Amino acid sequence: MRYLVTGVAGFIGSQVAERLLPRATELIGVDCFTANYPRSMKEENLQILRSKPNFSLLEADLGAADLPELLSGVDVVVHQAGLPGVRPSWGREFSEYVAHNVVATQRLLEAARNAGVRRFVYASSSSVYGNAATYPTSEETLPRPFSPYGVTKLAGEHLCNTYAANYGLSTVALRYFTVYGPRQRPDMAFHRFVAAGCRGAEINVYGNGEQIRDFTHVDDVVRANVLATEADLPPGKVLNIAGGSRADVNTVLTLLAGLVPTPLRVTRTDHQAGDVEETWASCDEARRLLGWTPKVELLDGLASQVDWYRARLEPVLAATTNSDLDPDLSVVP
Ligand code: NAD
Ligand code: UGA
Repeated sequence: MRYLVTGVAGFIGSQVAERLLPRATELIGVDCFTANYPRSMKEENLQILRSKPNFSLLEADLGAADLPELLSGVDVVVHQAGLPGVRPSWGREFSEYVAHNVVATQRLLEAARNAGVRRFVYASSSSVYGNAATYPTSEETLPRPFSPYGVTKLAGEHLCNTYAANYGLSTVALRYFTVYGPRQRPDMAFHRFVAAGCRGAEINVYGNGEQIRDFTHVDDVVRANVLATEADLPPGKVLNIAGGSRADVNTVLTLLAGLVPTPLRVTRTDHQAGDVEETWASCDEARRLLGWTPKVELLDGLASQVDWYRARLEPVLAATTNSDLDPDLSVVP
């Protein structure tokens, strides 16, 4: 099997690629190292992959690369590349979101159908639902994105469906719900909370902290991707992938307080544009078609992220002082 994993230097893409490698004759990873967070973190994500003989990395932007050549002989595409983040999608040029999430996806789909790719897995998002009309939300619910980011992720999904309907390309879109765990992006809540908690710095809660998420551990997302590369599915399938660990932000902080040595310092600021009140998925379809259910409980998953962060922090602290570190706490250098 020849796999192509896009966004391979990212939080999720790097871990999906690691899990696919043992079944790959060859796995090609593509990434253009977008500036959404420091390259050093993405390099860290690639460390294990770089040591494997059946892995190769192409540093290229899917919006410009020669994709017909890249896709030649590829059996399975796992498309994780994208510009993520609900709240940052207001501050940036919308054209960047369109370029990375829509144009890049369309170019890849076009090359995939011409190359006769057997399965195309697309990383979609709970952000396509916005404030959903019904909970738990099934895939039949009308998507009503609530942020520019959500609009572009839905556009990518529609493109998958278009190539499936017209050309029979075997696409499957996995709608991930707020993914957390080791290597999480530094703009995301758990990363910021864990970093601040481990270093005695301030945690900023947006709004009253009663917003609920169906938090999903990255190991469960990775397993769903592996199953989606090989399951018998009709073209154009869309599946929710959620952790079943529904909790509000205040509850997450209570759990975190039990995992770090000093009391949390919590401040509250305004509710942020684009943030929905609640996500809560029905995963019946993923269970039926992939045989997938989430396995990682929230407390265990949070502990895995604390362990990961501490393992990165300790050698740095041994060489410097806490106050010398990045003040926004996003990255351990
Ligand atoms: P990430 O930023 O860590 O990884 C995305 C990677 O894609 C980055 O390394 C980036 O450099 C690369 N990339 C972006 N545009 C590219 C392009 N045009 N060409 C080549 N490489 C490109 O983000 P992540 O959290 O791992 O998210 C992975 C995917 O999952 C994204 O598509 C995101 O929209 C989706 N998603 C993530 C979450 C979550 O909670 N993390 C939830 C729902 C959906
Ligand atoms: C996440 C990802 O960032 C998106 O890329 C993804 O598409 C989306 O999940 C999804 O499920 O589709 P989000 O739910 O906002 O988006 O995830 P977090 O950044 O982990 O935030 C969770 C909650 O914590 C949000 O309500 C946010 O307002 C809150 N938060 C975040 C804070 O209170 N403080 C912070 O410093 C950061």
